[in-house]
Amino acid sequence: MSDDAPILFFDSGVGGLSVVAPTRLLLPHAPIVYAADSAGFPYGTRSEAEIAARVPALLGRLVERYRPRLVVIACNTASTIALPAVRAALDVAVVGTVPAIKPAAAMSVTRVIGVLGTEATVRQPYVDDLAARFAGDCTVLRHGSARLVELAERVLEGVAPAADAVAAELHGLFGQPGGERIDVIVNACTHFPLLEGDMAAVVPPHVRFVDGGPGIARRIAYLTTGQGWPAEPPAHRLVFTRLDGRERRIADRLSAHGFSAVDAL
Ligand code: DGL
Repeated sequence: MSDDAPILFFDSGVGGLSVVAPTRLLLPHAPIVYAADSAGFPYGTRSEAEIAARVPALLGRLVERYRPRLVVIACNTASTIALPAVRAALDVAVVGTVPAIKPAAAMSVTRVIGVLGTEATVRQPYVDDLAARFAGDCTVLRHGSARLVELAERVLEGVAPAADAVAAELHGLFGQPGGERIDVIVNACTHFPLLEGDMAAVVPPHVRFVDGGPGIARRIAYLTTGQGWPAEPPAHRLVFTRLDGRERRIADRLSAHGFSAVDAL
């Protein structure tokens, strides 16, 4: 494999950047192709059937075009629904994103955990399994929020979220019976770490947040152990399935972070 072969990150939008960031810390010379399915965004309000049909096909086209050494589905919604189908369809290693319920259970003192994801993710049987396997002695409260996804996208366009809008979404967790005892929130959507500071400002100060990003970064580093990388820190590439004004604004902001090329798929 060539040293220039990239790692391909995939999400519906900008959320996967919360997985890219810890990966770049561990692998600063890794060339990155970041693909956002802007034409299909948002995934969280779509049906399982739509996501299952869309994601493997798109990833097939992306792999053909960019020949990555590794694919990272940096999206909980796509991973909890389509990961086995993507793995079956591609002949390259695929890393998925799953809600960080296991580390949350290890951190919780009150044994009440909040899982904040998209509507599609929080209703997945996969989440029931994780809760049963790793947080059997915890109350696991869930809330799906499309609004937080939207607010996180706007951050990348330079628009800060209003505190009351963020607080209203978190009420979806804290307003449930037992919600006042939550001490750990699982960011089970890759968009949400982009709002972590805003969320921390509107929840009780002892509440901690956890997401899968750092664990995925370690997994990527492990899977690429011994592989060569370019000698110089590389230029990264953005790919959008629809490239309009909004995507151009996001690309402008990301050009300061090494994403110097932009493609439409
Ligand atoms: N970032 C995605 C996730 O982790 C999905 C956001 C959306 O498109 O609704 O679930």
